[in-house]
Amino acid sequence: MRKKYVMAPGPTPIPAEVLAEASMPIIHHRTPQFQAIFKAAHEGLQMLFRTKQPVMTFASVGTGVMESAVANLTSPGEKVLVASSGHFGNRWKDICQVFGVQAELFESEWGQPVDPEEVRKRLKASPDIKLVFTTLNETSTGVVNDIQALAKAAHEAGALIVVDAISGLGAMPCETDAWGIDVILSGSQKGFMIPPGLGFVCAQPKAVEKTKTAKNPRYYFSYDKALKKLTEEKMPDTPFTPAISLVIQLKKALEIIKEEGVENVWKRHAGLAKATRAGVEALGLKLFAPKAPSAALTSVIAPAGIDSGLINKTFRDTYGISIAGGQGKEKGKIFRIGHLGYVDGSDVLLGVATLEMVMHKVGHKVPLGTGVKAAQEILLVENL
Ligand SMILES: Cc1ncc(COP(=O)(O)O)c(C=O)c1O
Repeated sequence: MRKKYVMAPGPTPIPAEVLAEASMPIIHHRTPQFQAIFKAAHEGLQMLFRTKQPVMTFASVGTGVMESAVANLTSPGEKVLVASSGHFGNRWKDICQVFGVQAELFESEWGQPVDPEEVRKRLKASPDIKLVFTTLNETSTGVVNDIQALAKAAHEAGALIVVDAISGLGAMPCETDAWGIDVILSGSQKGFMIPPGLGFVCAQPKAVEKTKTAKNPRYYFSYDKALKKLTEEKMPDTPFTPAISLVIQLKKALEIIKEEGVENVWKRHAGLAKATRAGVEALGLKLFAPKAPSAALTSVIAPAGIDSGLINKTFRDTYGISIAGGQGKEKGKIFRIGHLGYVDGSDVLLGVATLEMVMHKVGHKVPLGTGVKAAQEILLVENL
């Protein structure tokens, strides 16, 4: 027998109380019963997004809501800036191309965050750019971008900023209203602690204005339709059938987050990330993103001569733990350990202890217990 664990930066583990909600008989969505659930879930979303604006919920994966932002905000031929720090940042450019949008790509060196100064310079050089697409937590490299500074750079140039916070929301500070994030989106299988299938979008009034003149096509993903149903009726609603069971799970998960407190959730993630990094470094392994490391995952460079895919595979096949490998140009070179969502100190200890054993199995012997001890020391200080 081997237990199965997910230690990936999405999908993430799900609390038992949240899993149990999905086993309840289905209810109809046009009922007072579901509407009360949707209203409570919506208030929970506003709490997590740190916004007073409505937060739209779509039955969608994260990429779907990324596509929705391009569809709603842009017109064919429009020039935009994509400020990317990796694989998911680059996805903005791919989506823009499909919609006939001219995306200028500014890509940081992988493992480094986007430099807001560079964004400022690019926007100055291209005053016709009025839209910047970027990423809060670049999951492919384990880097966090300084969204507050990027938003400031965009606004100084009279541009709006669109932020993919799919893997970052809930794991690290992100202030939608206070930082002036014009459009922010996220996905359910990450910090929300529920299965994949819901995508969330929050747009500030200026961004909603832009959707009214933007010419690219949208139907299911129309913000106009979604916002009307969300705000213009007595109870928040959706224009089409919502993913009912997922919404019920969402409500439960957001109650758990509310009970812990959003700031405490951020603090827990920061402590777990710190302990993981300490464990990894104590084993003599090198972090891939030491400058701006993510609180949601830790990316590690595989020892010389060892394919990171083998490390990944050994975690999974020998120990039942799903971590993540490298993506794009880092495939085979790095591996990524998630500590996102329903995760505590014991999970980190299991991850680091298993990493020590995996290293032995792949032929890179490390002193057993060294990483665990370093992680324990941090967890004791952090009270985790
Ligand atoms: C930062 C980021 N953006 C986009 C995505 C894509 O989300 P999905 O796989 O749900 O389409 C992911 C998924 O890992 C992500 O981490």
